[in-house]
Amino acid sequence: MAEPKELPQFPEPYWRDNIDFPSFPKLEESIKADVGIVGGGIVGITAAYLLSKQNVKVALIDAGVILNGTTGHTTAKITAQHDIIYDEFIKHFGEDKTKLYFHAQMEAKAFIEKTIQELNIDCDFSEQDAVIYTNSDEYITQLENEKKAYDQLDIEGELTDSVSLQVPHKKALIMKNQAQFHPLKFLKVLAEESMKNGALIFENTTAIDVEYNKHPAIITREGHRIVCRYIIEASHFPFYDGQGFYPTRMYAERAYALAIKAKKKFPGGMYISAETPTRSLRSAMLDGEEVWIIVGEKHKTGQGKSTIEHYQALLDFAEEHLGIEEVLYRWSTQDLTTLDKLPYIGRVSEAEEAVFVATGFRKWGMSNGIVAAKILTDLISEKNSPYADLYTPSRFQADPSLRKFVRTNADVAKHLIKGKLEFTDNNIKALSADEATVTRINGKRTGVYKDKEDKYHAVDTTCTHMGCEVEWNSGERTWDCPCHGSRFSYTGEVMEGPAKRPLEQVDLEK
Ligand code: FES
Repeated sequence: MAEPKELPQFPEPYWRDNIDFPSFPKLEESIKADVGIVGGGIVGITAAYLLSKQNVKVALIDAGVILNGTTGHTTAKITAQHDIIYDEFIKHFGEDKTKLYFHAQMEAKAFIEKTIQELNIDCDFSEQDAVIYTNSDEYITQLENEKKAYDQLDIEGELTDSVSLQVPHKKALIMKNQAQFHPLKFLKVLAEESMKNGALIFENTTAIDVEYNKHPAIITREGHRIVCRYIIEASHFPFYDGQGFYPTRMYAERAYALAIKAKKKFPGGMYISAETPTRSLRSAMLDGEEVWIIVGEKHKTGQGKSTIEHYQALLDFAEEHLGIEEVLYRWSTQDLTTLDKLPYIGRVSEAEEAVFVATGFRKWGMSNGIVAAKILTDLISEKNSPYADLYTPSRFQADPSLRKFVRTNADVAKHLIKGKLEFTDNNIKALSADEATVTRINGKRTGVYKDKEDKYHAVDTTCTHMGCEVEWNSGERTWDCPCHGSRFSYTGEVMEGPAKRPLEQVDLEK
């Protein structure tokens, strides 16, 4: 464990370290299934569970290991309080659709509770109120308007001047009867149940495309095929676009998390600040002791300051307001946001009958992940889903998303050009261990990382997705793309899509 107040040297999420997972084989041959699922996070595992319960033959693959992507790096709040959103949603989608959104989230919470009871799962579930707080006059009016939206939608809430959290605030908006849990303890049981029901799970198996013959097939990097009737893309960024144009319809943001032991006792509840830099707080247990989980400092992927500075900012916040006894874990996460802030859940595009997608949960993937698994299971089982139309990726709501659409894409264009023109002159030899730089080698923009054993790793920094230039992420030791959020290890391997091919390695000896 790290010394008090020092950041752990390597990122590792609190959730993953406390739990043993079985490992699963790599897919070594072509197989058939009714439904092929790509991605072993909350959507993929829950869909596998729901479908296998109905005797549907499921094959699930994950490019790495299951439950180690966004689901393994979450805050794990099960809440319908998704920042200040309901006032905006009513204006944009109307009251009926906004109510549907709220009810979908609350049904997800009810599903989790019911499943915990049915399967007798010990996953630290507890009911908590969710709270948005602000210390900024600018946000007080927004919280007041959000409370009016709660009233209009019959959401049980309360606007108050003071809550028990000992972080300065002038106003807070409470949403009653929300919850928190340990998602990996919950989903581990769902994965086990799915396997008992006949589901097959494969790890270290990367999907690179979908091909059609008589039936659609998932094509893996090794050239194996999973021939199936339906495909679910639960891989965070869809690996197969299906002419849905997802790179132009979503942007990626990173956020940072700490798990600490603090001098102050956690007052109960789950908190998030209205203003930026965001501070999101909840408690969890570790070996019978209370731990604070603090998340914040979001920024567009590949566009922030040095990532270690974001952790430091969280550390400073925790020290100032909570008093740190020990920093136990640090980790970061990546979230995708759609143009209108509603996730895309449904057919990947109108033309594709058999391929479904679930993506763009912003940072609210626990409830939206369950919503997605239920919608997709209903669509595949040809049952009516009350929420399918609301979430369909084929919707088009021009306003206010159009403004963001233009800005998002202008931003991509800027990074396409900016990355090509700018590079530092740093001499590779001046690098200290565990540092990286961008330089030009034989006319190519090249990223060079010097590891702890003083070994150099050089990659061509041109993202293999659509050609933007990746930037170094010092906190995670990855190359991150500012355009659509692809991330690569320092040796160039794809860690997160939409890119499918690794960065080209550069030989420094030549
Ligand atoms: Fe699209 Fe890099 S992720 S260009």
